[in-house]
Amino acid sequence: MNRASLEKRPEEVAAMFDDVAPKYDVVNDVLSLGQTHRWRRIVVEAVGAAKGQKVLDLAAGTGTSSEPYADNGVYVVACDFSLGMLRVGKRRRPDIDFIAGDATDLPFADDSFDATTISFGLRNVHRPQLALAEMLRVTKPGGKLVIAEFSQPTVPLWRTMYTEYLMRALPAIATKVSSNPTAYVYLAESIRAWPDQDALAGWLSDAGWENVAYRNLNGGIVAVHRATKPADTATASVKARPGRRSAGPAN
Ligand SMILES: C[S@@+](CC[C@H](N)C(=O)[O-])C[C@H]1O[C@@H](n2cnc3c(N)ncnc32)[C@H](O)[C@@H]1O
Repeated sequence: MNRASLEKRPEEVAAMFDDVAPKYDVVNDVLSLGQTHRWRRIVVEAVGAAKGQKVLDLAAGTGTSSEPYADNGVYVVACDFSLGMLRVGKRRRPDIDFIAGDATDLPFADDSFDATTISFGLRNVHRPQLALAEMLRVTKPGGKLVIAEFSQPTVPLWRTMYTEYLMRALPAIATKVSSNPTAYVYLAESIRAWPDQDALAGWLSDAGWENVAYRNLNGGIVAVHRATKPADTATASVKARPGRRSAGPAN
């Protein structure tokens, strides 16, 4: 059994997800009390990709967050650095392109995707602000970013109830349904340590994204942040990082 620390060392995070991969989706459904389906639908609507467009689903894990795009005729690339998660995904959806890659050093060329999205992944990335810059780099000018992540309930009583669930009930349920319950202690701790809605919106603006906005779901348990890449600054992030290599095209 293993779990990552809040330092989120990449090899520890990847190993933890490798470990939970076989039962990841089932445990997710149980612990979210069935809410994940609604959250995913809202993310897909926010991305609003049309048939034939190219979407990067980053930290895609087993590809459950990528499936709706493929089902709608959108070309989706499911990228993650846990080979265990990617293997489970590829077995279930051989039609989707699963690509191994680190969010902080993406193996894609500049301006490759019409939209980039990341669901419940950014919180686990060791350098999330660098990942936001990388997402900007690989998104086409004028393209969209949509992030779904656990956040802070806005009403104090709701926040107290949710914190109780997170710190007590969730690890207890995880002990019954997961083969690696300590990974779900990490889940609870990492959610509590994650910046709130406005702080994350600030990170997006700092990284160069514009039209930053967010929507709270379930009273702020989850927030969906949206932004666009400025239409006239195609390679802004690349210029900001001299010497950075550009890998080949995404497909
Ligand atoms: C909670 S899962 C989310 C999976 C999927 N997006 C979903 O909604 O079910 C988080 C994923 O983030 C991935 N991850 C964490 N840090 C990463 C990084 N630096 N680069 C790529 N993937 C990363 C993990 O391997 C894991 O699969």
